[in-house]
Amino acid sequence: MSNSKRKILITSALPYANGDLHLGYMLEAIQTDVWTRFQKAQGHEVTYVCADDAHGASIMLKAAELGKTEEEHIGEIWKRHKKDLEDFRIGIDHYHSTHSEENRARAGSIFKALESAGMITKKEKEQLFDPAKSMFLADRFVKGECPKCHALDQYGDNCEVCGTTYEPNDLINPVSVFSGATPEMKTVEQLYFDLPQKGEFLQTWLDSGSMPAPVANKLREWLKDGLRPWDISREAPYFGFEIPGYPGKYFYVWLDAPIGYMASFEAYCNTEEGKARNLSFDEYWQANSDAELHHVIGKDIINFHGLFWPAMLDVAGYRRPTNIMVHGYVTINGEKMSKSRGTFITARQYLDHFDPDLLRYYFATKLSPHIDDIDLNLEEFAQKMNSDLVGKVVNIASRCAKFINKNFDNKLAVLNDENQTHYNAALEKLPAIQEAFNNFELGKGCRLIMQIADEANRLIDELKPWVTMKEEGGAEITHQTCSLGVRLFRIVMTLLAPMTPSLAQRTAEFFNVAELKWEDLQATDEIQVATFKPLLGRVDIKKLQSSLLSPAEAAAKQKPSKSKSEKKMESKPEVQADAPAAEAVEAPKGNLKPEITIEDFMKLDLRIVKIVDAQPVEGADKLIQVTADIGEGVTKNIFAGMKSAYQPEDLIGRQVLALVNLKPRKMRFGMSEGMMLAAGPGGSDIFLLTPDEGAAAGMNVN
Ligand code: MSP
Ligand code: ZN
Repeated sequence: MSNSKRKILITSALPYANGDLHLGYMLEAIQTDVWTRFQKAQGHEVTYVCADDAHGASIMLKAAELGKTEEEHIGEIWKRHKKDLEDFRIGIDHYHSTHSEENRARAGSIFKALESAGMITKKEKEQLFDPAKSMFLADRFVKGECPKCHALDQYGDNCEVCGTTYEPNDLINPVSVFSGATPEMKTVEQLYFDLPQKGEFLQTWLDSGSMPAPVANKLREWLKDGLRPWDISREAPYFGFEIPGYPGKYFYVWLDAPIGYMASFEAYCNTEEGKARNLSFDEYWQANSDAELHHVIGKDIINFHGLFWPAMLDVAGYRRPTNIMVHGYVTINGEKMSKSRGTFITARQYLDHFDPDLLRYYFATKLSPHIDDIDLNLEEFAQKMNSDLVGKVVNIASRCAKFINKNFDNKLAVLNDENQTHYNAALEKLPAIQEAFNNFELGKGCRLIMQIADEANRLIDELKPWVTMKEEGGAEITHQTCSLGVRLFRIVMTLLAPMTPSLAQRTAEFFNVAELKWEDLQATDEIQVATFKPLLGRVDIKKLQSSLLSPAEAAAKQKPSKSKSEKKMESKPEVQADAPAAEAVEAPKGNLKPEITIEDFMKLDLRIVKIVDAQPVEGADKLIQVTADIGEGVTKNIFAGMKSAYQPEDLIGRQVLALVNLKPRKMRFGMSEGMMLAAGPGGSDIFLLTPDEGAAAGMNVN
């Protein structure tokens, strides 16, 4: 606490309001929160604000898909995000939304400032337009054949197979992902933020040391390749803010998203808490502010924070960020998080089974200012928790506290000279730990803290209180050893508190204080402790794997095995027929769909069904309406596109393979509740998959 009190505003990126938070975002929130708690513990004036990023095409689509208005949808997501963050004990001072009045006003005034500074230019641009949905299509919403390698099903911005980047109108046979319609070209006037005018400013900013070197280097590459005007307008319909003076045009989501940091802070200043803290918006955001501004972000959004954002702030007359801290991506057991592989773990899924302190500590041990990806290896996770937190840290207390409780009236002795020397040696590590945390070297900080724990355990091993307690006249020395152990435990837990706030809270109760504080570590007087209770249990690797990785598999494992006939009628839950395009996590390769795991496959309820009725469908020349007996008298209605190969009467009485847990889909002619499996190129060559004779309807296949 040598340096004077700093005023710090810190943010983590604003998560999109299109789904639940996952462990990738939690890494970012944990990185921000650990640093914030550490700085608060140093006595600095720190404010952590965040918000939902509620605008843009993908949120519009998500709401439409759920049959909700955008406001309803983002309101619900906001509550879920806030609850997940709270339950992970992320100490955000204010959680706002970019769809707020503060943000609308601020985005409008910043735009006007950019405009009057001559930074807004206009250009006609040809854009793809979905005639069926009457909307312009963002790059991600057009798919087609790659103009270079001819891979099918590629997005409008780049080919996942050969890596070529192109404009969406370069795609061969483009289709709208929403309607399947062939997009038309339409000319539209676009507004641009004229970034090239800020080249010199950005050069200086990159050299200012505001970012870790790898980040600055990445940004320099963009600068070297030449800055381009940034397209900041979108056509209606678009969920966002209409641009003042340009009816029918909306701010591109990334224009008002970072302004959301300001809006959230402004809203916080106006809360009772903000007022009590005497926070002033201008003091933190004016051009010559002496407050610090730190943004914690992932590696995918560096250009927005490192180029556009500081340039916008500068033109509009605000301060620029002090620091941009960038982390890599979370991988699970060495692989990209993926919905199809069952490794897309939501924050809630983790919270349902485990203590947030554990993941907080684990991620912290892996964090540094580098942008390498961060692997959540579940075995290592379990092992680290058991060896570090349980085996090293809590163990110090459990080895010593029982003597203090039982033999010494719950009192920690004033240490004798020798033990005080040991205690001081631990305190001497504090400056290095402070420096590590201050520099976002969270992993290094954790390792230094563990060194204190190791030393404490070594001293206890050497001084053997369980032996001295049994010796004639050994009480005094035992009291000394155990007091030293428990006091060292207090140091360790006080330092670990930013990572493990709940464990620190339980530890504070043991020390009869409201909170573990750095400044209390210097105290040498007698301390009265409470009865020691077990603070943390071991992590079971099997439980970790089964509850986080593959819920389907876990459920199967937990059920006692059943007889064949019982298995027959055990229905699997419905599977979703239409995965929303905006959520696709895996890139399709060539004409192959992404890999699925055995767990994915196990979700399919494939059965031999008996076709008990089949009728032509009036008004549809390809469809046959099939009534399929799926076993034990249950029937399903299936619309099968097989009329080109079969007459309805050919089908009646046949047994075929079918998927019976497909989520019912409303088709023009009625509900379709399953899918019959067939092979062949189509047309008159469709071959139903049929079992050997003697199979019973309803028999499971996998
Ligand atoms: N809404 C924008 C950010 C606007 S900030 C003014 C956005 N949202 S996001 O939900 O896609 O991502 C939010 C943050 O989570 C980003 O910093 C992103 O890098 C991070 N992560 C998303 N997936 C991640 C992992 N798998 N691992 C680590 N961080 C990840 O981008
Ligand atoms: Zn290609």
